[in-house]
Amino acid sequence: MLRSIDTAAAPARALPTSYTAHADLRHGLLQPQARISPKYLYDARGCELFEQITRLPEYYPTRTEAAILADAGPAMAQALRGHEVLIELGAGNCEKVRVLLRRLRPRHFVGVDIAGDFLRQAVRRLAEEFPGLDARAVQADITEPVRLPRDLPLAGRLLFYPGSSIGNFDPADALAMLKRMHGLLGPHGGLLIGIDLPKPLHWLEPAYDDAQGITARFNLNVLRHVNRLIGSDFDEDDWAHLAFFNEDHSRIEMHLRARRALTVTWPGGTRRFAAGQTIHTENSYKYALPRFQNMLTEAGFTPGEVWTDPQHWFAMVHAHA
Ligand code: AVI
Repeated sequence: MLRSIDTAAAPARALPTSYTAHADLRHGLLQPQARISPKYLYDARGCELFEQITRLPEYYPTRTEAAILADAGPAMAQALRGHEVLIELGAGNCEKVRVLLRRLRPRHFVGVDIAGDFLRQAVRRLAEEFPGLDARAVQADITEPVRLPRDLPLAGRLLFYPGSSIGNFDPADALAMLKRMHGLLGPHGGLLIGIDLPKPLHWLEPAYDDAQGITARFNLNVLRHVNRLIGSDFDEDDWAHLAFFNEDHSRIEMHLRARRALTVTWPGGTRRFAAGQTIHTENSYKYALPRFQNMLTEAGFTPGEVWTDPQHWFAMVHAHA
């Protein structure tokens, strides 16, 4: 059973996406520390490169999370029993949720993702694999308020947000997002969320600067995407990938560093970069568990069980609404 609904939230102002993208990007590029929002990393090529990243030997989060989901399966199923409605945020190819669907056997599944076509195909495959499951695709930007189907039962909802994507938001935005998630839940609601834990630098930094240079390509690719969006003249060859752990903020920062002094122009704007100056493209926060649990509490949740791997690199955190 597959139903597909497009509930992409109406923008606060009725402006075409291209205009808002343009304004947002121009604004970021003109800041003293130039920045490009990480959401622009994910055009079609960026999505492919990210898939490749998840299979890199240095990129531990994806396989560590998958191992936790597999190993802790029975205990998770016990703790999460009774949830009849499973909602995956940023569902993508709906790969990770399969193990939960098999174990929890909910009646309803809703995958939410901005990439509508990709999501609908994935949900269609799920509907075939799990006959009787009411499987729906909701195309929406999860950084905005998400509207779920009106006939979806409110009680017993479990939100699933794997991948440690919450770490790509600054803490204030992450908290706002957790609050919005809480607002989607009713009686017996819960959240199962993946977070990447702090760990030694010699494991962290290579995960964001791999030997094959795939993460570098992923980061540099944002420039092509920005060129398409705002008509700028970035040349990838002028920029180098930079990733380092910022101890003060407990986050990996990705930047693009100008290899030489240069000027970038776009219709109506221009920015000079000195050699070595950077554009900040992404943060990936590594939350210590108590800090993240405090955020959950502040968002209205009651922290519950935590499942982790033997090295304590990654955690799947359960919270009650
Ligand atoms: C999607 N997100 C959780 C990834 C991360 O680890 O922060 C994005 C990423 N950026 C570089 N490598 C992976």
